[in-house]
Amino acid sequence: MAAWRRIGTACCVALGVLAGSLTAGAADVARPFGLDPAVEQRIDDLLARMTLAEKIGQLRQGGWSPDFDLGQASRGEIGSLTNAEDPHETARIQQAARSSRLGIPILLADNVIHGFRTLFPVPIALAASFEPDLVEEASAWAGREAHAAGLHWTLAPMVDLTRDPRWGRVVEGPGEDPVLGAAMAAAQVRGFLKGGIMASLKHYAGYGAAEAGRDYNTTEISPGTMRDIYLPAFRAGVEAGSQSVMAAFNALNGTPATANPWTLQTILKGEWGFDGFVISDWDSVWELMNHGHAGSPAEAARRAMLAGLDVEMAGDMFKENLADEVAAGRIPPARIDDAVRRVLRVKFRMGLFDRPDPDPAAAEAQMLTPAAREAAKAAAIASFVLLKNDRDLLPLAPRGKRVALIGGIAASPADHMGSWGANGRQDDAVTLATALTAKAAAGGFTVTTAAGCDPACRSEEGFAEAVAVARAADVVVVALGEPWWMTAEGTSRTQLGLPNRQQALLEAVAATGKPVVLVVFGGRPMTIGWAAEHVPAILYAWSPGTMGGAALAEVLLGEAAPTGRLPMTMPRAVGQIPLYYNHLPTGRPPTGDHYSSKYIDEEVTPLFPFGYGLTYTRFAYANLRLAEHVLKPGDTVEASVSVTNTGPRAGRETVQLYMRDPVASKSRPVRELKAFRKVSIAPGATERVTFRVPVEAFGFHLDDGRYVVEPGRFEIHVGGSATDTIGTGFEVRN
Ligand code: BGC
Repeated sequence: MAAWRRIGTACCVALGVLAGSLTAGAADVARPFGLDPAVEQRIDDLLARMTLAEKIGQLRQGGWSPDFDLGQASRGEIGSLTNAEDPHETARIQQAARSSRLGIPILLADNVIHGFRTLFPVPIALAASFEPDLVEEASAWAGREAHAAGLHWTLAPMVDLTRDPRWGRVVEGPGEDPVLGAAMAAAQVRGFLKGGIMASLKHYAGYGAAEAGRDYNTTEISPGTMRDIYLPAFRAGVEAGSQSVMAAFNALNGTPATANPWTLQTILKGEWGFDGFVISDWDSVWELMNHGHAGSPAEAARRAMLAGLDVEMAGDMFKENLADEVAAGRIPPARIDDAVRRVLRVKFRMGLFDRPDPDPAAAEAQMLTPAAREAAKAAAIASFVLLKNDRDLLPLAPRGKRVALIGGIAASPADHMGSWGANGRQDDAVTLATALTAKAAAGGFTVTTAAGCDPACRSEEGFAEAVAVARAADVVVVALGEPWWMTAEGTSRTQLGLPNRQQALLEAVAATGKPVVLVVFGGRPMTIGWAAEHVPAILYAWSPGTMGGAALAEVLLGEAAPTGRLPMTMPRAVGQIPLYYNHLPTGRPPTGDHYSSKYIDEEVTPLFPFGYGLTYTRFAYANLRLAEHVLKPGDTVEASVSVTNTGPRAGRETVQLYMRDPVASKSRPVRELKAFRKVSIAPGATERVTFRVPVEAFGFHLDDGRYVVEPGRFEIHVGGSATDTIGTGFEVRN
């Protein structure tokens, strides 16, 4: 454990200082990969035999395309390649690399974001499960399939914390909370490794804070907030064994992340002891010139390399400039050797030098297995967030009834699969329309479908038919939301309502007076205030993956219950953004007073808070007790609460523990999630749920990097969302 040290501040005495972040110091962590002297020696031997050109080759990642020149691999010009997915092609490329002068194998990467062939729910949905074990399994399946296709490496997970749903890449990440984000980061890294491929934590760092939610935009984040909010997920991923980290496109406080010595060198490689390699994002070394951070390609390559970037993705800045920069004495040869050593180390660790390559002929049999499909369905069910369920409209009890299914998305495989679909195929995907219809005969109900409009809903042409179908039904399920291409990289939005004419369709259907269940697809929180007011049941389904439709049908019919929680606050209006639960207090909390922190045209509260979600039963919290009320550094806070299932069905509740440090030398957030656990509780039963959280987790970072837990009173709040909690407190004394 890192040593505690006392510091004084102007207003109070800090109890302790932790060298790093919320977790133990780098040296304390049992890492899955240690430095192996035998491997380092083999690297020494290779380095001694490599030409400078061969070394620079190892620092370049190519992008595969159908006309890919195999000679790049056989001449040792690229150390890695991304985007090749066909197992026969990856085998061919690997063979070419092994035929190079020194026989150094190539690292083959792909964006395996939420599955390879079997697509799981998109990452924001996986985060909504609040189940790291399940997410680890999802990543393990992704890893197994990718590994079978000859890949070693996924350009995932994206662990960019974000507070802005205008940013399209929200879909790829864990949402707005650092503790949830860290749990998801570690789970994915472990899962990928278990499946046989290594991860790349991305995009390091601060990318999710892009100003105005506009992709690739600049960010301003204080060092303390970086360490408290944006960095914990990266650190957790490094500790879980991620062998690579991808630098982000954005500039952070004026210095592009691609060439940022503070994040790359001081923190990642220095404080955290990261001994894998850092890769740029797509051509982002070249973009240093657009950032105004380099005046020439040579300067761009030099700045990136000297800041700690090891590998360039997709560009030619390293290829064209590194040799000259070394010859001119502007880049020390030792820096090149260090970067190459990191790449080779990872290749050794991933077994590329020593293990046989997978047999491409055996790949297909390992794809989309029944077990993988079952896991994908379970993950989807765990990720659905039930936002509203008036008079228990869900689950539907449709026997003898006519069900109308409206919405173009309901029958669209691509929109179930989601963006970053890797090798996923539309033919594999089970849609809601297919799955619900398949259950009709046995369930004694009928399903009539009408799209109303195409998934994006640009025209009202089909509305009349949809309304007629709704009118002729007993209950209507309407599937709307973001088509897959609207929720991905480069898809920032200024309006977050249901896209185009979708709400008009919903209003027309609701006007029939039939009970309506709204199923929302998409990759981010949307402003669905009208629906929340007028539609009795709303299920947030995200982009649920290959088995998404099957999962939805089971949940709608009550064969399974939704158990997801919002990993991001859902705003009422775009004008509230950034809106996140762990915000700082204001000197004028919102009241009825005109001169308080509020809006004159909208509530300040969210439509639905972080951590929120219903299921098919209800839970009540009572008897929150702490084992001790006075603690000191090194102690553990033990909090127990009774959770009773007060409803008629068995159910799973996500119990969340939040804290607040009400008075500190720096204003602290009004709530901070510190622990969570999903528990199954039988109807009428009460479970006692106990959390143990080290006192060290109750501190924060100063801007100079020191971590402090200040003495005084702390609040503990436990409940089923960030706002629906019961509370108690304790004191930290020296
Ligand atoms: C994205 C990365 C991705 C890379 C390679 C970039 O545009 O930002 O997340 O891994 O492309 O496809």
